[in-house]
Amino acid sequence: MLDPITQELAKDKPPVDGETGENGTAADEDSDDWEDQDDGFVDVKASAGLHHRNIDNRLASVQNRLPFSFHPNFRPLTISDLDSCEVLENGAFENPAHRCTREKFEYRLTACPEICFGVFCTILPEDFERFQIDTFPTSHAVETRRENGGRSVLVAHIVATKSDEAVVTDAAMGYPRDFRARTPGTSLLGHDDTGRTVCIHSLAVHPRLQSCGLGKCIVKSYLQHVQSSGFADRCALICQDYLVSYYEKLGFSHMGPSSAGFGGGGWNDMVLDFDRFHMHMPEIKI
Ligand SMILES: CC(C)(COP(=O)(O)OP(=O)(O)OC[C@H]1O[C@@H](n2cnc3c(N)ncnc32)[C@H](O)[C@@H]1OP(=O)(O)O)[C@@H](O)C(=O)NCCC(=O)NCCS
Repeated sequence: MLDPITQELAKDKPPVDGETGENGTAADEDSDDWEDQDDGFVDVKASAGLHHRNIDNRLASVQNRLPFSFHPNFRPLTISDLDSCEVLENGAFENPAHRCTREKFEYRLTACPEICFGVFCTILPEDFERFQIDTFPTSHAVETRRENGGRSVLVAHIVATKSDEAVVTDAAMGYPRDFRARTPGTSLLGHDDTGRTVCIHSLAVHPRLQSCGLGKCIVKSYLQHVQSSGFADRCALICQDYLVSYYEKLGFSHMGPSSAGFGGGGWNDMVLDFDRFHMHMPEIKI
């Protein structure tokens, strides 16, 4: 089981436009500044309970879209998040053929929840009145007895499986239809627990919060977590042409056209090899 990436990044409210953050970065420069940094990864925790002020500053654009304080929490997904993942996926992916189906989510969140992560935001019922987000109704209470009714609402997710192939294949994208009855690890489709490649199948940011840096944040945090956990040698994904440069900026290499026919094909193979990447990684500041 992976350690939850318990973020304390929102314990201090992110700086608003015009203010200067703790690392000297103005809030309105957050995304570009992040891109220009040579560290490759955000400063993710080595253990729970550490502050993530650099992420904090970089996510000021998210704060600017919200009428309440943004207190994000990164944690592994569980099967109880199934409804929220489905809603988020359907809202984020315009092309229905590119979406992960509910049943596939159920399979992945059952087979390997420890490598599937979500970004959650605490939202109070009165905040929901001012900021309608469709993952609120499917969310869970932050604490069952919490008097203010705060709920932990999914705003972004990464859903993955492991494979022994170096790139994402149709077999890795698939799943055994009888998975509820089948003994885990007995199918050539879907998650291979002994595989050394983490295949990211679904990256989605809620449409109301896209282009604020949240996608980069969750990918970088996720990559660093997988890399430091040591259970994989690389991360792989497939993407359409328009996102190749997006992933290249995040450290992935473009391996050419993918043979995957999922959703009609036309995909590119993107791979980030941790061995090669490690050489360029600075020491993680905690
Ligand atoms: C792709 C996605 C995960 C990026 O997350 P995000 O938080 O919106 O993006 P970030 O703020 O981290 O980065 C923004 C950059 O993403 C890229 N980008 C995002 N969506 C894009 C699109 N539809 N077309 C082209 N570029 C896009 C651009 O480079 C953009 O730069 P800009 O803000 O200067 O325009 C998010 O937009 C999303 O969920 N999209 C729908 C689902 C999807 O396509 N997932 C990826 C499958 S491989």
